[in-house]
Amino acid sequence: MKIVMLGAPGAGKGTQAIKIADKYDIPHISTGDIFRANIKGGTELGQKAKSYIDKGELVPDEVTIGMLLDRIAQDDCKNGYVLDGFPRTIPQAESLTEALKSQGDRIDFALNIDVPDEAIIKRMSGRRACPKCGATYHIVYAAPKTENICDKCGTELIIRSDDKPETVKDRLNVYHQQTEPLIAYYKAAGVLREVDGTQELPKVFEDVVAILSEN
Ligand code: AP5
Ligand code: MG
Repeated sequence: MKIVMLGAPGAGKGTQAIKIADKYDIPHISTGDIFRANIKGGTELGQKAKSYIDKGELVPDEVTIGMLLDRIAQDDCKNGYVLDGFPRTIPQAESLTEALKSQGDRIDFALNIDVPDEAIIKRMSGRRACPKCGATYHIVYAAPKTENICDKCGTELIIRSDDKPETVKDRLNVYHQQTEPLIAYYKAAGVLREVDGTQELPKVFEDVVAILSEN
């Protein structure tokens, strides 16, 4: 099963993608997590990406597309994957469609996690992330068992550098301009499914599973 997660920054793409990956035993591929790991590791890719991410802008397609296509060509992707944060522009979506088409393949579901901007700004201020394993928490809605410590790997949680309210507003603008058109793109491809992302976390996942059980 090949799944694309759509939705604004903070809509809950990562939260749901991790649960999908776990339930269906497919890799969770987050371009944001790949960039953050490279920034932390001080790689050339990380240095390139950091200046864009810190401003809330998109990393250029020339960098992002090749990186993602290399990742999904790896062995663990044979039975599918859940893409979180890719595609984010029409050229990214077209490159993915073409790469899959050349193998007689396609995306099965594009899940649009829909949350209005006002709710997003509230959510982001409470988000905490694990810098080691990528798990995401919220101080009110999805608190870790021990304050500020990752349930999964015991690492101290951090506030992401791009979660400052000013940067979140910039990321939302970029989303509306460059990423929202993907909803129409995947609708035209017949694979778009809408999910109400304002509901409580377990209910959002229940709706996601109902959609993925369609065929
Ligand atoms: P990326 O890491 O993908 O960030 P994003 O899209 O901005 O999304 P987020 O990770 O912020 O939000 P999310 O939807 O995953 O929400 P989450 O589950 O954490 O990208 C970061 C940057 O990298 C980009 O800005 C860009 O610069 C660059 N980049 C990445 N991919 C790129 C690409 N393809 N092209 C170019 N540049 C790229 O949830 C948010 C919070 O809400 C959490 O605290 C969570 O616990 C809580 N929450 C989740 N669901 C619920 C719920 N139902 N109720 C209450 N709280 C909830
Ligand atoms: Mg995320």
